[in-house]
Amino acid sequence: MRAVAVRDFGAEPELMELPAPEAGPGEILVRLRVAGINPFDWKAADGAMRDSVDHHFPMIMGSDGAGVVERVGAGVSRFKVGDAVYGQFMRVQQGLGSYADYAVADEHGPVAKFPEGLPYTWAAALPTASSTAYNLVETTKIEPGTVVLINGATGGVGQSAVQLAANKGAHVIATADPDMSDYMLELGATETIDFTRDSVIQDVLESHPGGIDVVIDLVTHTRGDTPLVAVLRRGGIYISTLGAADPDALAAIDIQGANLYNRATPELLALLAELADGGRLKVHIDHEIRLDDAPATITTLRTTHSNGKTVIIL
Ligand SMILES: NC(=O)c1ccc[n+]([C@@H]2O[C@H](COP(=O)([O-])OP(=O)(O)OC[C@H]3O[C@@H](n4cnc5c(N)ncnc54)[C@H](OP(=O)(O)O)[C@@H]3O)[C@@H](O)[C@H]2O)c1
Repeated sequence: MRAVAVRDFGAEPELMELPAPEAGPGEILVRLRVAGINPFDWKAADGAMRDSVDHHFPMIMGSDGAGVVERVGAGVSRFKVGDAVYGQFMRVQQGLGSYADYAVADEHGPVAKFPEGLPYTWAAALPTASSTAYNLVETTKIEPGTVVLINGATGGVGQSAVQLAANKGAHVIATADPDMSDYMLELGATETIDFTRDSVIQDVLESHPGGIDVVIDLVTHTRGDTPLVAVLRRGGIYISTLGAADPDALAAIDIQGANLYNRATPELLALLAELADGGRLKVHIDHEIRLDDAPATITTLRTTHSNGKTVIIL
């Protein structure tokens, strides 16, 4: 099968011909139609998990994907051949991932069926970004009237977080460059701040002098270096997807700090597909590319703008 894989940590991704995996007991083999790209894909290829788990090389990149069940292993009961499924397929220990024609998943792992009306491109774009957004909104207990700043709102996680927070009745302040501002308002943001020009802290405090309730930070990546806590009221919540929160240091200034390490469950994936199918969660596909364009696209995505999701049509 065709796959985009790396030969070692930090190596350039290459289009390769590799053996297709097989479905073992309790597993499904999926003929992928679309793979979704996330920043974690190249972080994993660079060795983000090298200290905690073994990796097999060549290692196919990617986690998210959508396709059709081609074979089921012994004992599988949740899925049958022909089901349209989507989810996370990264298995670094076996060198398997979603930038490939075929992937395998544990039937009880992060995979779910999705409705016929949902495009494969949307399904492939949802798993990591939208499940993370969902868990951020739930963990921070956003409810009607909560004022939340989403820093990094224009990316994959941010766009879902804006919608899910707005769906709960929150007042959403989204950081966005001017090109994306109207789109953020369309997704449900109440205010936008141009992070390329304005001082985000000053702007938030001008319109909310008493401080706001929650900061969802998808950009800051240095542990303990969290200037955005300046916009929070006493007792406010700061949550990071990049390990930036130092919960003890934040507790000392009366801020609840947390770092989210996302896990997508089959139940959450089923819910996200339902929300997307029902029009309550939109996905902005920025680029659709071919598998042989993936190595060059990854190089570009590492350093340039992301205004939505890039997906690979397989
Ligand atoms: N912990 C977890 O479990 C978990 C799960 C999912 C994601 N993550 C991480 O969370 C981060 C966000 O994920 P993602 O998929 O949403 O990434 P993404 O699609 O690359 O989005 C990042 C967004 O942040 C914007 N941005 C960059 N610099 C900014 C700044 N200074 N102020 C405000 N916005 C800024 C970018 O805009 P421009 O492109 O215009 O610069 C882009 O739209 C990634 O680092 C990812 O690895 C962690």
